[in-house]
Amino acid sequence: MDLSDPDAIRRGVREAKPDLIVNAAAYTAVDRAESEPELALAINGAAPGILAEEAKRAGAALIHYSTDYVFDGSKGAPYTEDDDPRPINTYGRTKLAGERAIQAVDVPHLILRTSWVYGARGKNFMLTILRLAKEREELAIVEDQIGAPTWSRAIAAATGSILEHLGYGQAAFGDACAAKRGIYNLTAAGQTSWHGFAAAILANAASAQARESAFALARVPVLKPISTEQYPLPARRPRNSLLSSAKLQRVFGLVMPDWKSSLADCMSSE
Ligand SMILES: NC(=O)c1ccc[n+]([C@@H]2O[C@H](COP(=O)([O-])OP(=O)(O)OC[C@H]3O[C@@H](n4cnc5c(N)ncnc54)[C@H](OP(=O)(O)O)[C@@H]3O)[C@@H](O)[C@H]2O)c1
Repeated sequence: MDLSDPDAIRRGVREAKPDLIVNAAAYTAVDRAESEPELALAINGAAPGILAEEAKRAGAALIHYSTDYVFDGSKGAPYTEDDDPRPINTYGRTKLAGERAIQAVDVPHLILRTSWVYGARGKNFMLTILRLAKEREELAIVEDQIGAPTWSRAIAAATGSILEHLGYGQAAFGDACAAKRGIYNLTAAGQTSWHGFAAAILANAASAQARESAFALARVPVLKPISTEQYPLPARRPRNSLLSSAKLQRVFGLVMPDWKSSLADCMSSE
């Protein structure tokens, strides 16, 4: 369904008659959002609220993904779910609007905030670095923004574990989900910069293990660390994107894998 069309969402959910909605779709073009704020707000801000209303109507639960970009990045430690969001770009503001639209509806829901998502398919930082590595001798990568690169498959696995914990498929699922409703940070353990992430991607691509894989590189470019100011973009980014996953561990007993081991697994998986 087209999430920018409220009627299409209502129609789609009513036809599907779900017992669970997992919304991984979003307007994710962070820079383009600065010049398309209405469309970004429709997809990221309004659609989650409509999904929540329709979930309530269907007696379903809603799982929705949100982002580290709801924060301004000025905190000197990982953000917790209790920290006040203060987005500094349009994408972050629209994602925060989506969280609030869901919270305004009395429906069992989990809002899972993740960060720096990559995977073997689609468009993401890992695939961009691997593509640029084949085209250029040198790559200049920002070193003064820190975060936790999180493999899409680790997010999917964690979501599956949460559903299992809540007894998805059993009669008590709705009540269990309602009891645990709220925001949860869900990111890989550890931290790095974009430059550190790029270095690890290239190291994996050059390693013997990767030689067999689709991500192997015969030659790696020189990596040059640069500052945020040296790489101006339309949308501002938070300097600190770290989210504490302590609540996820406390409530669901889930420990997320370290970003480096996940990256190695991802790059040897294809
Ligand atoms: N990527 C990150 O670093 C990151 C970080 C933190 C949080 N998140 C959150 O994680 C979730 C998944 O992000 P992602 O990186 O996987 O995004 P993505 O690769 O850009 O995928 C977004 C998906 O949303 C779909 N979509 C976009 N506009 C739509 C519309 N109007 N109607 C229906 N579907 C639409 C896209 O469909 P098409 O392919 O057909 O366009 C695409 O399948 C999002 O909630 C995002 O905010 C991502």
